[in-house]
Amino acid sequence: MIPFIQNLIIKIIFILIIFEFFLQVLDFFIEKEIEKEFEKEIEKEFDSFYFFGNWKIQNPINISNNTFVNIKNYCIRKSSISRVYSQVNNKNNKDVWDLDLFNIKYGNPNNYKKAEKIGSGKYSNVYLCENKKYVIKELKPISLNKIKREIKVLEILEGKNNTIKLLDVFKNEEEEEEGKNQSCLDSRYHNCTSVSLVFEYIENINYKELYPNLTKQEIKYYMKQLLIALDYSHSKGIMHRDVKPSNVLIDHQNHRLELCDWGLGEFYHPGKEYIVRVATRYYKAPELLLQKKDYDYSVDMWAFGCLFAGVVFRSNAIFKGSNNSDQLVKIVEQLGFNDLDQYLIQNHLFLDSEVFEIVKYFEKKDFSPFVNEENQDIANQNAIDLIEKLLVYDSKKRLTAREALEHQYFQEE
Ligand SMILES: Nc1ncnc2c1ncn2[C@@H]1O[C@H](COP(=O)(O)OP(=O)(O)O)[C@@H](O)[C@H]1O
Ligand SMILES: *[C@@H]1O[C@H](CO)[C@@H](O)[C@H](O)[C@H]1NC(C)=O
Ligand SMILES: *[C@@H]1O[C@H](CO)[C@@H](O)[C@H](O)[C@H]1NC(C)=O
Ligand SMILES: *[C@@H]1O[C@H](CO)[C@@H](O)[C@H](O)[C@H]1NC(C)=O
Ligand SMILES: *[C@@H]1O[C@H](CO)[C@@H](O)[C@H](O)[C@H]1NC(C)=O
Ligand SMILES: *[C@@H]1O[C@H](CO)[C@@H](O)[C@H](O)[C@H]1NC(C)=O
Ligand SMILES: *[C@@H]1O[C@H](CO)[C@@H](O)[C@H](O)[C@H]1NC(C)=O
Ligand SMILES: *[C@@H]1O[C@H](CO)[C@@H](O)[C@H](O)[C@H]1NC(C)=O
Ligand SMILES: [Mg+2]
Repeated sequence: MIPFIQNLIIKIIFILIIFEFFLQVLDFFIEKEIEKEFEKEIEKEFDSFYFFGNWKIQNPINISNNTFVNIKNYCIRKSSISRVYSQVNNKNNKDVWDLDLFNIKYGNPNNYKKAEKIGSGKYSNVYLCENKKYVIKELKPISLNKIKREIKVLEILEGKNNTIKLLDVFKNEEEEEEGKNQSCLDSRYHNCTSVSLVFEYIENINYKELYPNLTKQEIKYYMKQLLIALDYSHSKGIMHRDVKPSNVLIDHQNHRLELCDWGLGEFYHPGKEYIVRVATRYYKAPELLLQKKDYDYSVDMWAFGCLFAGVVFRSNAIFKGSNNSDQLVKIVEQLGFNDLDQYLIQNHLFLDSEVFEIVKYFEKKDFSPFVNEENQDIANQNAIDLIEKLLVYDSKKRLTAREALEHQYFQEE
């Protein structure tokens, strides 16, 4: 009796395994069949299209109801989520990131006397104060929300760990009329406000003069300080989104580095879609150039990689595109098309057909042509290895700030 039951159980298990296998095979063929149908439909609906390995669509002309449903089934991908610090801004601390709950506390403008202009950007003019202790960042009229965001981000960072400290905020009283007359830089909002932010003055040397003079040890030191600022802000749930040399202030005499310009700083929420028109062209991560909206802190790590490579190779910027498409072309020229293709397929991203035609045969290159007599002791094996681990298409595989700090480059000597 016992052996009979044993036998029966073994048979049942065997049958179940076979059945499961059969289901898997069936599933596979059904999927193939659906894919074929889908391809046929796409062919009908689209003017021209490319299939790389899996599938890819170009030039959508007019998507019928039916096709759209199918495309949706195929296109909707799981949103990608940061590998680190993804839950910092979870629902529980809404008061941290919800700008509607935030009111600016304005200080007294009479405490500050502005002297000469020392800097400017798209959104501001920066003046040194008469006492040479403070600077006033006078924001051009922009939406109140954008102003609130910059202030809130600065308040959360508290000027710690190499992030610039916000000392005060005041309204630009005398310029209010002029501000109202000017067209708002952010046309989606009707109410434009003009405020000034007060920071400590950092005796910054322009990077174009400073970087070429830095020694191997100084480069290592400052790059470490910048990574500390990035790891810290990321750990607070904030992406900078405009990392570049002109936003990194260095007081060389006091060996002090401050990451400034949090005007594009933003709170990270897992899966949230953001505008891709952020960062400065030479420092734009591939995901931004490919319109992947659910990006994360890793856009800062790409920008850091570009900045680091520029310093190490003693060159201004390593990828210099003349427009956003050309920027991607310059990147693929170095990193090759194969890895990009893989990344596009995995993330269901589309490549502009013009760009595709240019880059489709590009092979991955190494960084040795960047090394020359002048930079060879700085651009050593470890430095290049770090660059290669930062400048990767797939933001999930890119080193995080913490991982970069643990890289061999910062441990040597
Ligand atoms: N605290 C500071 N100390 C010295 N220079 C500063 C300071 N803050 C800003 N600057 C100078 O002003 C420039 C513009 O400031 P930034 O905050 O980057 O404004 P924008 O958002 O307009 O780019 C910087 O690139 C830098 O040269
Ligand atoms: C798309 O199709 C609809 C309905 O068939 C039509 O009304 C519309 O004009 C088309 N749009 C374009 C851009 O061809
Ligand atoms: C599109 O689909 C919706 C729901 O699936 C349906 O109600 C509608 O009639 C369809 N429109 C056309 C033009 O086929
Ligand atoms: C302010 O607006 C008025 C009318 O809208 C215009 O005539 C004037 O030139 C503007 N002044 C400035 C400083 O822009
Ligand atoms: C603009 O400001 C006025 C008064 O300050 C306010 O009533 C209105 O709601 C604001 N509009 C927007 C779009 O914020
Ligand atoms: C950089 O080095 C050059 C040559 O040694 C020197 O003339 C220049 O003043 C230095 N620049 C800075 C910003 O230290
Ligand atoms: C940031 O500063 C705090 C103390 O202010 C420190 O505990 C923490 O380790 C620092 N983070 C980094 C990345 O250096
Ligand atoms: C971008 O720049 C490249 C190279 O300079 C040029 O060939 C291309 O036409 C430009 N594309 C756009 C969209 O401006
Ligand atoms: Mg700036």
